[in-house]
Amino acid sequence: MPDLTQNTELFELAKEAMNKAYVPYSQFHVGAAILTAKGQFYSGCNVENAAYPEGTCAEAGAIAAMVLGGDTLIKDIYVIGNGDGLVTPCGGCRQKIREFSSADTMIHICGAEGVRKSLTMDELLPFSFGPENLEQAG
Ligand code: THU
Repeated sequence: MPDLTQNTELFELAKEAMNKAYVPYSQFHVGAAILTAKGQFYSGCNVENAAYPEGTCAEAGAIAAMVLGGDTLIKDIYVIGNGDGLVTPCGGCRQKIREFSSADTMIHICGAEGVRKSLTMDELLPFSFGPENLEQAG
């Protein structure tokens, strides 16, 4: 059942990005699209490499585009992949999203029909380590 409250622009951006994924090794297309607190949109796709560990995730691409655009606070991030399962961000991407999140940040996991699950940052990465933890040192 599609979530009718979804942000159509973010969903379409994520889908477009997914279709551009460079995935000759896994054939697993992933797209990510970010809406920032300032109201800007950014997207990214996964980009694989013949040296497998050098591949990058869709979320990392979208975050790099956001930072290049001068934005650092994610309001919503949509992640979409093929298939029936939930394409939840990998562990590394959870930490990457965490760096640019607040209590209001929502992570939306999508399939072809729309949003399948929406999570807060704390649900996706509980007891996380972030920039504030460094401020507590010394
Ligand atoms: N992938 C992402 O782009 N994001 C994730 O959070 C999960 C995994 C990509 C990496 C690789 O290109 C492919 O999906 C299969 O793991």
